[in-house]
Amino acid sequence: MPIEAFILNGPNLNLLGTREPGIYGSLTLADIEANCREKAAALGFSAVEFRQSNHEGVLVDWIQEAGRRGAGVVMNPGAYTHTSIALHDAIKGASVPLIEVHISNVHARESFRHRSFVSPVAAGVIVGLGPLGYTLALEALAGLLKG
Ligand code: DQA
Repeated sequence: MPIEAFILNGPNLNLLGTREPGIYGSLTLADIEANCREKAAALGFSAVEFRQSNHEGVLVDWIQEAGRRGAGVVMNPGAYTHTSIALHDAIKGASVPLIEVHISNVHARESFRHRSFVSPVAAGVIVGLGPLGYTLALEALAGLLKG
């Protein structure tokens, strides 16, 4: 059975590479996409949608699209992690298996980053391992989708 991944990135992640490199490192989002595509191919994903948006509603639309397609999701929701009931509801409503990824260790940062509205509806969470978190999440997602 073909397996498909949506890799979704929230606000400001388009700035990776130049954005607070002491926290987020020097890889750009394009570098992370290339790593993900290589890993996804090795894991047998037949299709990968790698997307970024600064807009909450667009992210909601993409989660719903993933649900309709029966795809799994790797998502770094950025700051919407800590604020968005809409993302929480979208993930729950679309019944998508989703792995939440954060490049930085949000628990070692400001207290407003300690709360996630996504974690309760995620299949798993990877935090603080840098861009490696994305490919680890793909590995976990492949396991979930292959059952
Ligand atoms: C982030 C952590 C969030 O708190 C922050 O708002 C981001 C990036 C991370 O990948 O570490 O934009 O999700």
